[in-house]
Amino acid sequence: MIQIAVIGYGTVGSGVVEVIGKNTQEINKKAAEEVYVKYILDLRDFPGDPYEDRVVHDIDILLNDPEIKIICETMGGIRPAYDFTKQALSRGISVCTSNKELVASHGPELLRIAREHNCNYLFEASVGGGIPIIRPLNYSLTAEKIDSIVGILNGTTNFILSKMETDGADFGTVLKEAQEKGYAERNPEADVEGYDACRKIAILSSLMTGKNVRFEDIYTEGITGITAADFKYAAAMGMTIKLLAIGTMVPDADPVSKEGEKLYACVAPFMIDQNHPLYFVHDVFNAVYVHGNMLGDSMYYGRGAGKLPTASAVVADVVDCARHIGKTIMCFWDSENMEVAPMDDRVGRFFVRVAAAEAGQVKSLFGSVTEVEAMEDSEFAFICGPLSEAEFATKVEAFTQPVKRIRLA
Ligand code: HSE
Repeated sequence: MIQIAVIGYGTVGSGVVEVIGKNTQEINKKAAEEVYVKYILDLRDFPGDPYEDRVVHDIDILLNDPEIKIICETMGGIRPAYDFTKQALSRGISVCTSNKELVASHGPELLRIAREHNCNYLFEASVGGGIPIIRPLNYSLTAEKIDSIVGILNGTTNFILSKMETDGADFGTVLKEAQEKGYAERNPEADVEGYDACRKIAILSSLMTGKNVRFEDIYTEGITGITAADFKYAAAMGMTIKLLAIGTMVPDADPVSKEGEKLYACVAPFMIDQNHPLYFVHDVFNAVYVHGNMLGDSMYYGRGAGKLPTASAVVADVVDCARHIGKTIMCFWDSENMEVAPMDDRVGRFFVRVAAAEAGQVKSLFGSVTEVEAMEDSEFAFICGPLSEAEFATKVEAFTQPVKRIRLA
């Protein structure tokens, strides 16, 4: 028997217990041992819960129990999850987590502690919920030089954008509906401002490069400025708008010394057309599109959030830990920071809306542009580029009235 503890009995934590309870036979067979939930740590009591007798309030009870070999950390947030995780790993107890904030902030350090104590820190559930993406990057694609990862990594914002597109509704209206349905948090900032997707692409980019991609270095823009009119323009051009999380290698590094190796990384709304592999990813679904130099394109798609999909990924990590007791599974994520190229250097095309009264200076500023039929009388809309973000920012300073731009992928 392998005894485990769950810390944080919220949505994902209770999902972990439920998955183990429902899929007992499959899990035990694959772990080659019976997986038994001995403790559930939470501040609260759960009277009437079938597992109420296993609820404890003191982390030391599980840390000091030599029978506990694996902890599922489903608390979220940095503290006290960081301290609990460090204490567990330092005692040789493996930790499986869904906590992308902690993984993105302290991943290399926690992986090192796990290595030093012959145990594991696994985090499949931290990105893409139930979609297997960490394991493919860590195991399956090890023969590849991966040069690009592009994902829809946040279910809440993908739901909101999909609904804005189909209903022709504004951001505020759809956000309210998403909150009522429980898809969006009461405080939706982390999702709608792109912070959640930023942590996730930091984790994926770190696994892609083998170095530490700091989430603080990633340019991040959310979806709060996207309007129903933007979707009308997108539809007229056969496009849609998606919040993309991007990590792409800058191609000019020395192939041998890797001198000059840099990464472009950003989270922002992009207009994409039907040829883009992420165009048909709707609602709360997530997808990750990976390009490797031998394999070419591969794509991972599924439920990126939710109790049981996320819990399923945590339990898959438990099974992996159970199969590797006393042995660390390699994960290539150094503590050395990866250089992230300035967003100003990124070159791309832009969809732009300016006041009709200022249309006269578009040609002199941008040269030849593709005009887009205006959806509002007072506007002039066009596509320009390729040009760098810095060049674009300088040119639009010439306009006196507000300018709206959405990048094209
Ligand atoms: N708030 C996240 C999302 C949950 O909407 O994708 C999963 O990390």
